[in-house]
Amino acid sequence: MKEEISKAVEEILGLTGTEDALSEGIIQGSNESSVILETPPDSKMGDIAIPCFVFAKILHKNPAVIAADLKNGLEQKKEELGLDEVICVGGYCNLFVNRKLFVENTLTKVADGNHGVEKIGEKKTVCMDYSSPNIAKNFHVGHLRTTVIGNSLYKIYDKLGYNVVRINHLGDWGTQFGKLIVAYKKWSSKEAVEKNGIQELLDIYVKFNNEKEEHPELMDEARSWFVAMEHGDKEALSIWEWFKDISMVEFERVYDMLGISFDSYTGESFYREKVPALVEILKEKNLLTESQGANVIDLSEYDMAPCMITKKDGSSIYHSRDIAAVLYRKEKYDFDKCLYVTGLEQSLHFKQVFKAIELMGLDYYKNLVHVPYGLVSLDGEKLSTRTGNIIYAEDILNEAVKRAYELIEEKNPSLENKEEVAKKVGIGAVIFHDLFNQRIKNINFSWKEVLSFDGATGPYVQYTYARAKSVLRKYGKELQCTLTDCQALTDDISFALIKTIGGYENAVNVAAERYEPSIVARYLISLCTDFNKFYQECPILKEENVKTKEARLYLVYVTSQIVFECCGLLGIECPEEM
Ligand code: ARG
Repeated sequence: MKEEISKAVEEILGLTGTEDALSEGIIQGSNESSVILETPPDSKMGDIAIPCFVFAKILHKNPAVIAADLKNGLEQKKEELGLDEVICVGGYCNLFVNRKLFVENTLTKVADGNHGVEKIGEKKTVCMDYSSPNIAKNFHVGHLRTTVIGNSLYKIYDKLGYNVVRINHLGDWGTQFGKLIVAYKKWSSKEAVEKNGIQELLDIYVKFNNEKEEHPELMDEARSWFVAMEHGDKEALSIWEWFKDISMVEFERVYDMLGISFDSYTGESFYREKVPALVEILKEKNLLTESQGANVIDLSEYDMAPCMITKKDGSSIYHSRDIAAVLYRKEKYDFDKCLYVTGLEQSLHFKQVFKAIELMGLDYYKNLVHVPYGLVSLDGEKLSTRTGNIIYAEDILNEAVKRAYELIEEKNPSLENKEEVAKKVGIGAVIFHDLFNQRIKNINFSWKEVLSFDGATGPYVQYTYARAKSVLRKYGKELQCTLTDCQALTDDISFALIKTIGGYENAVNVAAERYEPSIVARYLISLCTDFNKFYQECPILKEENVKTKEARLYLVYVTSQIVFECCGLLGIECPEEM
């Protein structure tokens, strides 16, 4: 509908495809030109507002005059555009849509197999690199963020029909493993590692870092163990492999809780074998320079620190393993886009990696996207491994489930499967809290906020879903209404809800374009708010007119579907009752 209105406006004002209009940015985009359409602050002023002052510059007319011209023109086309009324308000031309038609169209649109979302990504592949924790280190809240954001982006792109490859780029290679092997041999045992898992590995790693201050020779030992690993030393590799297995068991526990899986776990160790070939290519392209024994790509021309490729001892590094990974992924998946979801602090790293790909003459550097996110603090304190103020993702999730259980005990003690519901609510709450704010913003984690049933929270959304499902259950009959009965849904409150339902596809598209799950989360909150208003103000089961009652029930049904869908896009499960 918006497209048709845009076209009509262009026609009436004689703007169609004019260079002037394009260059002024009035008509956005070249192929899908669309005039800027706004939503008036109050629906009493109309459903759509067209600001006319933007045309003043190229039409050399006063905005009020343009608005009047537009009104005349649009009035001729009212019927074909599905409009009821056109008015001028200051420099704006405001439109009231024909509600009955709009309701019918919207409800028909979202009734298709994909809830009205066009699969614009078909035949396109997106690689998503996210979660990617480090072996032998704990899975902390930062990793929880990349996991939850990455998973949501995967669901969003999947909904749009893209082929998504979910890659867990495990941090399973690097000098730290040399340190760990030394520490293990000196201070730990097979039994201790088996018993305490990652915690034991963390403890001895910390001990190593403390001891090396007084015994610098420990560092030489560590380095030589790492070189041994790089050269395929059997003993070194078998210890490393074992540490990796131990770590994976713990990571999988977190993924299970979140209901998350990956298509590939090829981490840094996989790519380090590809670094020698990369070095050859870089040499051929004359991109390598020596710097204090190391091989680097000089990036001073671009105001960046040099990008290290191999260290003095010839071993690979985080950067070169990432460059090798780009080449491998392009070859294997022929991606149209490759996203990297990591903390903001890795921005320079990705700039360097993408620059290296560009300098190698590979045009697809343009399709590599860093998707950064902000830090997490707990009730105001920054989380860090060094200060010991670590919050383990698993602890947070378990705590959330426990607190959700207590809440259910308090609010609805007779509920069936309380444990299962508590899991969905607790984990859903943590996920929603993470995804609601723009990802780049820092997050402050406060239990009170996370688990609240009011305001913009996971439990509020889930509760809305359960409420809708409960109305439908109480009715208990198959709905007979057809869309022609939707006349009953043209009152202000129902109509506001339907307009929001109509915005679903746009929310998914914008979220994908901006790599921003918060767009879906915020959309979901407005949907729930509109629904709860409708639920409070429009009698549903008590309505006497059967047609009206069924039309309202149908609206309850459609809303419940879209709420469920949006939760799915965020990675949140919805209990049927709570
Ligand atoms: N393992 C890294 C970390 O924990 C994140 C890896 C991100 N992905 C990548 N291809 N560099 O910080």
